[in-house]
Amino acid sequence: MFPDAAQMAPDLAQALLAWQVEMGADEPILDRPVNRYELAAEAPKAAPPAAAPKAAAPVAAADPVAVARAAAAAAATLADLAGAQAAYGLCDLKKGARNFVFADGNPQARVMVIGEAPGREEDLEGRPFVGRAGKLLDRMFAAIGLSRTAPDAGAALYITNVLPWRPPANRDPEPAEIAMMLPFLQRHVELAAPRLVVLMGNTPCAAALGQRGIMRLRGTWTEAFGRPVLPMTHPAYLLRTPSAKREAWADLLSLRARLEGGA
Ligand code: URA
Repeated sequence: MFPDAAQMAPDLAQALLAWQVEMGADEPILDRPVNRYELAAEAPKAAPPAAAPKAAAPVAAADPVAVARAAAAAAATLADLAGAQAAYGLCDLKKGARNFVFADGNPQARVMVIGEAPGREEDLEGRPFVGRAGKLLDRMFAAIGLSRTAPDAGAALYITNVLPWRPPANRDPEPAEIAMMLPFLQRHVELAAPRLVVLMGNTPCAAALGQRGIMRLRGTWTEAFGRPVLPMTHPAYLLRTPSAKREAWADLLSLRARLEGGA
C-alpha cells in the first residue's frame, strides 16, 4: 500500500496525486488515505446471506407434437378443433401471421381438399384458397360439379391447409411445422369425415403420406387418414405450368368417377 503522504518524498506524493487525477479522481474524500484491505480484515463478519431460494427444477421444454396431439384429441367438434388450433402457441408462424386460416366450404362435403398453407390473400382474409390459385381451384372443381359454396353435401367441397398460418414470404413449410400441425390435420379429417381427400401438392403429401414428389405421386389413389386420397398438382403450379393442366384434368375425372361410383 501507499505510505502516508506525510511520510512520502514530496515529489513522489505529487506524482501519485497527478496519477490519480489522470485516472479520473477529481475529489478528495478524506485527509488521509484509507487502507481498505486492512479495514476488510478488521470488519465484523457480515451475517451470512439468507439462503438463496432453491432453483426451480428445470422444466422440460414442451414437445410441440405431443402438445398438439393432446389438444387435437380433446376436440370433439370442428369448432373445438379450430379453437384449440388457434390457441396452440408452439408454432412460430403464428407470430408473423395476421389471421388464423382454418377451413372453408361445407364440412359435410364428400370431398375434402388439403392445400399447403395460406398465402398473402388468405392471410389477409382468414380463408383458404382465395387468391389466384384459389380461383383456379374453384374453376377446376366446378368443372366436375363441386363447389365450396354448395349447400348440398353431394356437390360440396370442404377446403383446408396443412398449416393454418402463413409462412413468412410464402417460404416452404418446414418439416417441424408440418409435424406439429399434423395432429390437428388428422383430427380435422376425422371430424369432417369426408369420403375422399385430395392432397394438393407436395406439402400435404409430405404430411399425409410422408412422401414428396408430386409429379410421381399425382393421379394415383392411395390411402391416408383411413380413407382414399388422391394427390394432385397444386393450382399455383398449374398457373405457372399450363401444360400440366391436362394431367390435372385427368385427375379430376378420376375423382368424379370415384364419386359416381358411390364414394
Ligand atoms: N395455396 C395453398 O396451398 N393454400 C392456400 O390457402 C392458398 C394457396
